Amino acid sequence: MVKHIVCVGAVYIDTILTVLRFPVEDEKLRATSQRRRRGGNCANTLEVLAQLVFHNVSDDSDSSEAPTADPQLHLLAILPNKESQDVTFIRNSLKNVKLTNSCIFRTDFNDAAASYIIQNIINSSRTIVSHNPLPEMTQDEFFAAATEAYRVEGATEGWYHFEGRVPQVVLHCVEYLRSSQPGFKVSVECEKPERTEMALVAYHADVVFYSKQWAETQGCNSPVAFLKTMKAGTRHDALLCCTWGDEGATVLQKGSEDYEQWGVAQSWAPNNGLHVVDTIGAGDTFIAGMLYAITCHEDDWTLQQKLEFANEIAGRKVYQDGFAGLA
Ligand code: FRU
Repeated sequence: MVKHIVCVGAVYIDTILTVLRFPVEDEKLRATSQRRRRGGNCANTLEVLAQLVFHNVSDDSDSSEAPTADPQLHLLAILPNKESQDVTFIRNSLKNVKLTNSCIFRTDFNDAAASYIIQNIINSSRTIVSHNPLPEMTQDEFFAAATEAYRVEGATEGWYHFEGRVPQVVLHCVEYLRSSQPGFKVSVECEKPERTEMALVAYHADVVFYSKQWAETQGCNSPVAFLKTMKAGTRHDALLCCTWGDEGATVLQKGSEDYEQWGVAQSWAPNNGLHVVDTIGAGDTFIAGMLYAITCHEDDWTLQQKLEFANEIAGRKVYQDGFAGLA
């Protein structure tokens, strides 16, 4: 059983404006609602993972001790100073996720990274404009944070998931982990096509999560065709996952010729008249579902069951606002 999952990435504070149509440049358009919530791929993934991991753990509110469960969840992100309102907001949004020993706090900054999101309820698009004032994590900061977390938690095995912000840095982080903490497995996300060098990082990962946008940029118009081409350039035993928007997701477990396995999960759109309300973080939710399935049900769920679980939870997410109550 994996004892620790560390998610490495950024945290954003999302301001979401819901509109009935996408604005035309330079016009004034009224939104029908505005919400502010904590976002960021890794943080979104951890929020869902925490629900899944702690689902059956009783929260004894008379006890001063926080409930515990395995795997323990950690966020490794760059945050503003510890006393800032934004850090309090972020902490409060990530119940049962550990931040203190793994996050890097930039004392000179009070503001976290921010996204302004136009959410068009007619076609479910979410257009994100973001700004990150915080200098990105360097490889030396990662080495120190990973070593500190390792020292404090005494963990010798577990899982590191990288959102993959600065590919050159992530590459060094993964190489460092392979040599210093060989008991840890590694997953990476290839989401934004402009971060082409994430393909080099994917080469070292046990699990790779590709987005539809990434696959399409490689000239592929189906997840199966795409994953076939990804057989080259990934580890011999890697698990490759590709989400395809509302058309489901496909996974390929590589191995020798007769071991190779595929999993295909179809569209999650239910046929009961529900409307998609919030696609922000659907991919992050899929990753949470897969990480949970891989680490907590490694042996008792088949590959297809793991995929269907992740696909279903991502599907459930888009029919509700935010991430609460998904477990
Ligand atoms: C969704 C998301 C948002 C955030 C943006 C950052 O996947 O993580 O919560 O604002 O993407 O790129």
